[in-house]
Amino acid sequence: MSNRLEGRVAVVTGSSSGNGRAIALALARAGATVVCSDLRKDALQGGYETDLGVDTDDVILKAGGRAAFVSGDASKAFDVQNTVQHAVVKYGRLDIMVNNAGVFTGLHSIVDETEEQYDLTMNVNAKGVWLGCKYAITQFLKQDPITTPSGERVRGRIVNIASIGGLVGLALEPAYCASKGAVVNLTRELALDHAPDRININAICPGFLATAMVRSFLEQEDTNKLLHDLTPWPRVGKAEDVAKAALFLASDDAEWMTGSMLTVDGAFTAR
Ligand SMILES: NC(=O)c1ccc[n+]([C@@H]2O[C@H](COP(=O)([O-])OP(=O)(O)OC[C@H]3O[C@@H](n4cnc5c(N)ncnc54)[C@H](O)[C@@H]3O)[C@@H](O)[C@H]2O)c1
Repeated sequence: MSNRLEGRVAVVTGSSSGNGRAIALALARAGATVVCSDLRKDALQGGYETDLGVDTDDVILKAGGRAAFVSGDASKAFDVQNTVQHAVVKYGRLDIMVNNAGVFTGLHSIVDETEEQYDLTMNVNAKGVWLGCKYAITQFLKQDPITTPSGERVRGRIVNIASIGGLVGLALEPAYCASKGAVVNLTRELALDHAPDRININAICPGFLATAMVRSFLEQEDTNKLLHDLTPWPRVGKAEDVAKAALFLASDDAEWMTGSMLTVDGAFTAR
């Protein structure tokens, strides 16, 4: 148990399952107050969590941490603004925004991908991150910077969850790769605009992870083998691998890091 985020207020979108849940728990364990936001309060049953029956905010509260749940669709401006406002009204400020909510509609070529699949993917994965950044930065600019233990002043930190599919093409994932490419370059652009404001904006690009999103592929022998073969490290990733990187980027240890794409991919993109 560390207290590196004691006194900080965080919002995590898509917090009920997988990466978002692991990130919310890691930030709370480090002392942050976490506003959990998701379409649904309970975890997706396809996930690999050992405590699927307990909602993320309840896990935090039971461990003695501070958390709240706000129902919200990350692709809807009203919902994202409402979630940020909840943090500000209830806890006084916002220090950390983790834009994690995302969808994946399966493997298909552009010939077979439907317009509905494209719109859903872009709305949640790309527009959702844009909205999260927009309302977090709007709030960060209104509040006084805090002074970190090393004397640095910071207004707030954003961690966007992109993907290796935002850095390289992944076969048969046209809309998903387009949406994650948008997250990657939005992160760079915003980091430039808001470095003078002392706002850190970074993204994590995970490789293949065992979460509900990927369960159907891990359960089939051929696609399970493919994901393992594509990952140089001898196992696929876990949500906790992403959470550790998110904790670092949300903390004062990442004081002078901004506009970075942090790969957490078992060397997938190192080849
Ligand atoms: N699992 C992987 O292999 C992998 C790899 C790279 C990147 N990612 C990214 O990590 C993020 C989380 O993925 P995961 O693997 O944990 O997925 P998941 O499906 O296990 O969990 C996603 C969570 O987001 C929520 N959600 C979905 N749409 C939402 C919306 N519109 N508004 C609010 N919440 C919504 C779901 O209810 C769920 O709780 C996504 O952005 C995903 O693209 C995942």
